[in-house]
Amino acid sequence: MNMNPSTQESTGALKSDPRMKQYFSSEDERRRMTKTLFDDAAPGYDTAESLTGLGSGAWYRREVLMRMGLKKGMTLLDVAAGTGLVTVPGVELVGPEGRVIALDPSPGMLAELRKKVAVETLEGYAEAIPLPDAQVDFVSMGYALRHVGDIHKAFAEYLRVLRPGGQVCIMEISRPRSRLLRGLLSFHIAVLVPLLARLTGRHADVKRLWVYYGDTIEAALDPDTIQEALRRAGFADVACSVSLGIFREYTGHKP
Ligand SMILES: C[S@@+](CC[C@H](N)C(=O)[O-])C[C@H]1O[C@@H](n2cnc3c(N)ncnc32)[C@H](O)[C@@H]1O
Repeated sequence: MNMNPSTQESTGALKSDPRMKQYFSSEDERRRMTKTLFDDAAPGYDTAESLTGLGSGAWYRREVLMRMGLKKGMTLLDVAAGTGLVTVPGVELVGPEGRVIALDPSPGMLAELRKKVAVETLEGYAEAIPLPDAQVDFVSMGYALRHVGDIHKAFAEYLRVLRPGGQVCIMEISRPRSRLLRGLLSFHIAVLVPLLARLTGRHADVKRLWVYYGDTIEAALDPDTIQEALRRAGFADVACSVSLGIFREYTGHKP
């Protein structure tokens, strides 16, 4: 585990950014903080997600999985599964002849996921996946790359657990290039989200999560760096598509 904050900044999915210093100064602290944050916000996560739309909803996640080629009979590993917003459409798309494994470090988020869908769940981190080599056809990760302490370790793990020809698909929000979109996103996070969070009934927990979310978007690595890290890990045909200037899907194949 990486205990050195300066090294952590160069390998994590967040570039060196003063905003992050208020939250943690080591990988251990980051893990403790995000686990508590997600455990506390788990019961209100889905309502907040559908109200704020920052993950652009279940329809988008399903459409991405379909477009990227998740098919009946495949084995899907959903990393950072959370409450299952990617896992649930994944189960539907692989069908009864397929297999779905949901991985997440937060017991609170996994407890919410189990209420919706009966799949194998694993408590763990993207950087150390508790599965043997060449087990799965498709690795998905929705809106969690920014929480990963070492993206090189995570991408090496994705390659290891995939069968040859298997595919990775990472959905993530990026800082918009256009000033107008950046302004709209800041307004959304600073003004609309706290207002909408009041409606969820778990105002404090959810608000804390979304304030952190906004800061991580500002501090997130740029798309070229993420694609370069996928290539360095050994993925082929690395690509990134973007919707509405914010929502990105990073993909690659195991040769
Ligand atoms: C914003 S939620 C996303 C959940 C879901 N994938 C979705 O699309 O809504 C982020 C999830 O990442 C998990 N997480 C944080 N650090 C992680 C890591 N290093 N490896 C895997 N998952 C992690 C958190 O516990 C949380 O459930």
